[in-house]
Amino acid sequence: MKFFIDSASVEEVKNAVRLGVADGVTTNPTLLARENKPAEVIYKELCKVVKGPVCAEAVSIVADDIIAESRKLSAIDENIVVKIPATKDGLIAVNQLESEGIKTNVTLIFSPMQALLAARAGATYVCPFVGRLDDAGHVGMELIEQIMQIFINYDLPTQVVVASVRGTLHVSDAAMIGAHIVTVPYNVIEKLIKHPLTDAGIQTFLKDWQKVKASS
Ligand code: E4P
Repeated sequence: MKFFIDSASVEEVKNAVRLGVADGVTTNPTLLARENKPAEVIYKELCKVVKGPVCAEAVSIVADDIIAESRKLSAIDENIVVKIPATKDGLIAVNQLESEGIKTNVTLIFSPMQALLAARAGATYVCPFVGRLDDAGHVGMELIEQIMQIFINYDLPTQVVVASVRGTLHVSDAAMIGAHIVTVPYNVIEKLIKHPLTDAGIQTFLKDWQKVKASS
């Protein structure tokens, strides 16, 4: 499973690159609003830091406007992938943009059929939001199982990016299901590394190493 970093913070993405887990980045307007820089500056910096897709969200609503905005976003860097919401206009735009060679990531997916239609429209990626489904009283990971099964049934090349990840269990469940990619907030990456038995084991080894040194 590949890891994208769900962040608009260049520092966080740099940290993830050093760990060797940043296969790409996803941003959205909410994440960009936390940074004090113009979006285009952030996209350019992210594209320098990470060797992989950097997802930049189009905020237009009407198909022609989404297409025009996406062409501009895509011109920023060859690694930009345009995030487009799963609406009728969004899918029209995806169909057109992919035919021009512009990669798309259909976002805000909450049902298997939205994912199937996005894949048929030619999307390179789909982003089902598991955490927001959990928040609304559903089991978000069930959506990932359904989408993966459908994509396997029809041998669809679109890759599933598990999004709206809130904790470590979402990540391990995504890996067990066989999702292609998970997009993870940086703090969750740090939690995935941590284990109290690792820390306790290091303390014991350090104490015992002092005894080895004292006797040599
Ligand atoms: C994905 O690309 C989205 O940016 C993100 O995962 C949304 O997560 P949230 O539901 O925690 O805002």
